[in-house]
Amino acid sequence: MIKLKKIEIKPDIYWVGGIDWNLRNFHGYTTNRGTTYNSYLIKGSEKTALIDSVDPEKKEVLFENLRRLKIESIDYVIAHHGEQDHSGTIPYILEKYPMAKVVTNPKCESVLKDLLLLADEDFIVVEDGQEISLGNKTLKFIFAPWVHWPDTMLTFLPEDKIIFTCDFLGTHYSLEELFIDNPEKIYTPAKRYYAEIMMPFRTSVVKNLELIKDLDFDTIAPSHGPVHTDREFIINCYKDWSSDDVRNEVILPYVSMHGSTEKMVKHFKLALEKNGIIVKEFNLSEADTGELAMALVDAATVVLGCSTVLVGPHPKAMYAAYLVKVLRPKTRNLSIIGSFGWGGKMVEQLVEVLKSLKAEVIEPVIAKGYPKERDLQLLDELAGKIKTKHKDLGIL
Ligand code: FEO
Repeated sequence: MIKLKKIEIKPDIYWVGGIDWNLRNFHGYTTNRGTTYNSYLIKGSEKTALIDSVDPEKKEVLFENLRRLKIESIDYVIAHHGEQDHSGTIPYILEKYPMAKVVTNPKCESVLKDLLLLADEDFIVVEDGQEISLGNKTLKFIFAPWVHWPDTMLTFLPEDKIIFTCDFLGTHYSLEELFIDNPEKIYTPAKRYYAEIMMPFRTSVVKNLELIKDLDFDTIAPSHGPVHTDREFIINCYKDWSSDDVRNEVILPYVSMHGSTEKMVKHFKLALEKNGIIVKEFNLSEADTGELAMALVDAATVVLGCSTVLVGPHPKAMYAAYLVKVLRPKTRNLSIIGSFGWGGKMVEQLVEVLKSLKAEVIEPVIAKGYPKERDLQLLDELAGKIKTKHKDLGIL
């Protein structure tokens, strides 16, 4: 087992979590570098607190880390969020340290009772802004709903200038170091994590960035991935990704059965590029869902390429439409291109899925069978309309 070379963040504050180097799928998304479940031990002069636990798969690693630190008692287990990758080991901790209480907010208490069958007497329930003293260290709790569950809260440790942010500002990224030497290394995995987990809650991301901006911290300790000592790097990334700004890009996920839709996609891509637009094309038969999610973070326009199966959209295109709907990117324009053999309601069914997005639907281009000259002209016209939209947005 590979372990972190250093586990002390600051005096009497330790990383005691688990690393899953081999995890390649988390909630259906690819995790190329596994993930970490970060748990932190804070030894105050009077009390000891554990910040979050680990996925139950890694509970023995957590207990070994506590043994190495010779931790004989834990007074508080701070539960920032009820999802089991952070809370799942709490029942085992309460069994091993029976004097410990779970400190959390009312929403998370309710979640933990449902998921882990904890009892009333296991909890100390705190209010937003409430503090708990560990003697020479203070834990201040900040409610941060919807990054990414309604129960999420953060903990600020003013004496050591650390903020523990749970999933917020995290990354699925395993490494042997507690801190990352060059934050640029985690730009892409952090963006992917943001796209998959935080993007649907973009307005809450903005609110919670605002909530912490005036706090005096130099270290951000999330519940996944490395600890950030360059606070501006990850915060500026989040500000950029969650802003209203869009880029001169068209995301073009497509699926083609017999080549008609693919012919349209290739023609349309060239037409867009001739108009000075960057195109990111994803063949849905082989595309990585996380890569597609990441591309959606900044793009001004999404055009789905879809062939018709029976009377509706190909299931892979329907899945892509559903993904766009639930990830709620800041996309301003949507359209559909594709083909059908003898009929169907492919466009209507895709639009029905996508209609909850605040995006303008530009007239789709659908060919009957293999695309003819007129269909290719219509694709050129669609590319021209998108160019105009991007010019109006000031991005072209
Ligand atoms: Fe990493 Fe929402 O759990």
